[in-house]
Amino acid sequence: MRLETKRTLIRKFTLSDVDELHKVLSNPKVMEYIEEPYTLEKTKEFIIQAGLCNPPLVYALELKSAKRVIGHVIYRKFDEKSHEIGWIIDQDHWGKGLADEITKEIISYSKRHSDARSLVIECDPAQRTTEKIALKNGFTDEGIVDGLRLFRRQVNRRDKTQSTKPDQNGDVQ
Ligand SMILES: CC(C)(COP(=O)(O)OP(=O)(O)OC[C@H]1O[C@@H](n2cnc3c(N)ncnc32)[C@H](O)[C@@H]1OP(=O)(O)O)[C@@H](O)C(=O)NCCC(=O)NCCS
Repeated sequence: MRLETKRTLIRKFTLSDVDELHKVLSNPKVMEYIEEPYTLEKTKEFIIQAGLCNPPLVYALELKSAKRVIGHVIYRKFDEKSHEIGWIIDQDHWGKGLADEITKEIISYSKRHSDARSLVIECDPAQRTTEKIALKNGFTDEGIVDGLRLFRRQVNRRDKTQSTKPDQNGDVQ
């Protein structure tokens, strides 16, 4: 998967991304609801294990204007019928609508390319920002599953016989 939004590029990781990603994942505030901040060595392992496998579980999030990695996007098979999406973004770039922009692009991508019937977002129940992004993009709160809050959105694949009128989420089905 390689996607472009207005401000970002979502692409496969390379090992040379390690320093820029480490800046993001070593910040305790960024990792507050995820896990302990990463060391440089752990960041490298993460890129190898999750970013360089086939298909990747996570993708580098590059800010086009700065040509630098400002985090990563999770896009991976969740179960037989769904894919999970998620985002970890450098604190310097929070609150500018990037996660919302990325979510909309991944929903659109899933309609075109994925065999998934739904997308899910998982987060710590205390993570209110994720909840906002999920609800704003047509996900439904399915409650707490295995200690994490689960949001789900159906993905209606494009079909030429279907209407091209935007739905309530502003999406063309
Ligand atoms: C969660 C995260 C990805 C959000 O990214 P973002 O690009 O800042 O989000 P957006 O700018 O698209 O904001 C989405 C909504 O959340 C709101 N928001 C953003 N940061 C917020 C904050 N710190 N507190 C409360 N609301 C916040 C925005 O105002 C917006 O709401 P609105 O549409 O009503 O204005 C980012 O904060 C992050 O990387 N956090 C650390 C990692 C993490 O916990 N990821 C989620 C689990 S996968």
